Amino acid sequence: MITTTDLTKVYRSRGREVTALDGVDLHVREGEVYGVVGQSGAGKSTLIRCVNLLERPTSGTVTVAGQDLTALAGRGQRAGSALRQARSRIGMVFQHFNLLSSRTVRDNVELPLEILGVSGKERTRKALELLDLVGLADKAKAYPAQLSGGQKQRVGIARALAGDPKVLLSDEATSALDPETTRSILQLLRDLNRQLGLTVLLITHEMDVVKTICDSAALMSGGRIVESGSVGELLATPGSQLAQELFPVGGAPSGADRTVVDVTFQGEAAAKPVISQLSRTYNIDISILGAAMDTVGGNQVGRMRIELPGPFEENVVPIGFLREQGLQVEVADVAYEAAGTQTAATAATADTTDAAGAKKTAVLKEGAK
Ligand SMILES: Nc1ncnc2c1ncn2[C@@H]1O[C@H](COP(=O)(O)OP(=O)(O)O)[C@@H](O)[C@H]1O
Ligand SMILES: [Mg+2]
Repeated sequence: MITTTDLTKVYRSRGREVTALDGVDLHVREGEVYGVVGQSGAGKSTLIRCVNLLERPTSGTVTVAGQDLTALAGRGQRAGSALRQARSRIGMVFQHFNLLSSRTVRDNVELPLEILGVSGKERTRKALELLDLVGLADKAKAYPAQLSGGQKQRVGIARALAGDPKVLLSDEATSALDPETTRSILQLLRDLNRQLGLTVLLITHEMDVVKTICDSAALMSGGRIVESGSVGELLATPGSQLAQELFPVGGAPSGADRTVVDVTFQGEAAAKPVISQLSRTYNIDISILGAAMDTVGGNQVGRMRIELPGPFEENVVPIGFLREQGLQVEVADVAYEAAGTQTAATAATADTTDAAGAKKTAVLKEGAK
């Protein structure tokens, strides 16, 4: 539904060049919710603005719903009007809502229809229908200042839907909202995705957003996509940074002679009592160092960090057993720090992990600003 090929964007200002996009190949399938995450400055906003040609790419192509938008951009008047037409089929939702304070809620939703030249009566009918769809039928005559943040964003979403788009783009739509409102807006986006068959491309710095509604995700860094795929595929990819951030598991080994293993459960495998089977089959004691369980797209997914007695060489068979059960198994590279007493050493290692984890979250949070 949305494809970018070798997309680059170089900003030139005051003699300085900034490469905001550096060869981005994005592929969003029809009907899916696709999340792009990454640190502040990674190029996420530039990418989404290039997808609807609000920003002109330096090179590469953008295709939306089978139409090459880059070919339409700035090639004479006829192409220009074709581009406007194509753009009206792409809705955009913003972090700070971008509502006109002097207009009522209904008039805000009517705005894009005015620009498209839709007649007054038809505009009003459409606006009221959309306000009903986003749960704001009773606020048509209110002004933005009389609404809560969540209600404002619902108006923003209704306005984005005015041109009957096939695609909805969202740049940090929930970043200015509290957690509860965030959940209700995400639920609305999910409902619209299902009801209208809307393809949603959203940018976020919150992994929870990805966890709650995304079918697929990409991680951006330095203007490039460094990881991408369906959430299921990502979780099944050894060493995936997105998987680790979606399901962080911490925990340090309790002694030097231990093997620490990260196990990812998906679908049916999540319901099997594999750990107790492993313990019984090989007569070994297993400690759980950390775990996270959650539902992604209706499927139960989880990760667990376990500790097996003995070095890796002695655990090749138990690890193979876990793999045979359809689980993704990775040997974690976490060292036991032997200095001082055992408790002190374990605590120190746990602290380092925590510090690193906290730092990552903090960096991702900057994306909001
Ligand atoms: N209009 C602009 N002019 C010059 N540089 C820009 C402009 N917009 C963004 N940039 C730069 O491009 C890079 C990517 O920015 P952006 O796409 O906003 O990242 P993100 O949304 O991931 O935080 C940053 O280094 C930013 O400073
Ligand atoms: Mg941004």
